[in-house]
Amino acid sequence: MGICTPSFSDSSSGSGAASTKSWIIHGLAVGAAAAVALGAHAYLYYRRSGRFRSRVVGIIPARFASSRFQGKPLVHILGKPMIQRTWERAKMASSLDHVVVATDDENIAECCRGFGADVIMTSESCRNGTERCNEAHQKLGNKYDIVVNIQGDEPLIEPEIIDGIVKALQATPDAVFSTAVTALKSEDAFDPNRVKCVVDSRGYAIYFSRGLIPFNKSGKVNPQFPYLLHLGIQSLDSKFLEIYPELPPTPLQLEEDLEQLKVLENGYKMKVIKVDHEAHGVDAPEDVEKIERYMQEKNLP
Ligand SMILES: *[C@@H]1O[C@H](CO)[C@@H](O)[C@H](O)[C@H]1NC(C)=O
Ligand SMILES: *[C@@H]1O[C@H](CO)[C@@H](O)[C@H](O)[C@H]1NC(C)=O
Repeated sequence: MGICTPSFSDSSSGSGAASTKSWIIHGLAVGAAAAVALGAHAYLYYRRSGRFRSRVVGIIPARFASSRFQGKPLVHILGKPMIQRTWERAKMASSLDHVVVATDDENIAECCRGFGADVIMTSESCRNGTERCNEAHQKLGNKYDIVVNIQGDEPLIEPEIIDGIVKALQATPDAVFSTAVTALKSEDAFDPNRVKCVVDSRGYAIYFSRGLIPFNKSGKVNPQFPYLLHLGIQSLDSKFLEIYPELPPTPLQLEEDLEQLKVLENGYKMKVIKVDHEAHGVDAPEDVEKIERYMQEKNLP
């Protein structure tokens, strides 16, 4: 028997989502202006089927081997495999035409089929989630305009956030990438694992850093400043996804060890939406207990 015991949920899956309102989904109205301001690298794949980038797939890349947390996608969180929780949330997003799990691991595949997910087997050579998404999209016949890369280690991701980044990308023809940020807690200000982001007045990403940005000359956190924490979720123009892994690494990307900087350093535009979200990423075994405690406190199913 597999290591996974899928748990079949009742109708409870709707409730968690209610807690999230989009805090600001800003910049959605700039589509027209942005279309005029198309940058050098902008892709003009819209008008393909009447609507701009209308076909959308959500892909949950999952691998078994992990240096920090072996078998992470299958770890149980309040009795349910983490990947199942992520999948159930993704299925609730109305912007996704299809949700699939992409994995190189038979145990994960078996588990996911067990709770009803579509699974695409990808090769072990995929070096990261983006490459895995790209391979999965190719195996789907490259038929989607937008690929949402839904990290399996954010089991409390709200469907509204998925829909928000998809809409943002659809409304912003000169962007090839969209992602979400939320308010940074002051205790996370100097934690290098919490990635900070600064955006321009139209909601395009300017920079991401593991350091605190912007930096106040006092050297301290400015309690008045609305610092932004980057959330891992991202949606990509599928044509851009094909070339993204092939773009050579860039200096800022290498220095910060942040993939998304490669997008900006190559001159592509990234749209950022601000959402209200408590980040509960599961990176290490200790995080499981934390998230379970949180879910019990909030009465999440
Ligand atoms: C820096 O932070 C302080 C509060 O800690 C704030 O009053 C000030 O406006 C910020 N900016 C500068 C340039 O000092
Ligand atoms: C994924 O891995 C490839 C190969 O190491 C690398 O070029 C790429 O920057 C990585 N990340 C993304 C987001 O493609």
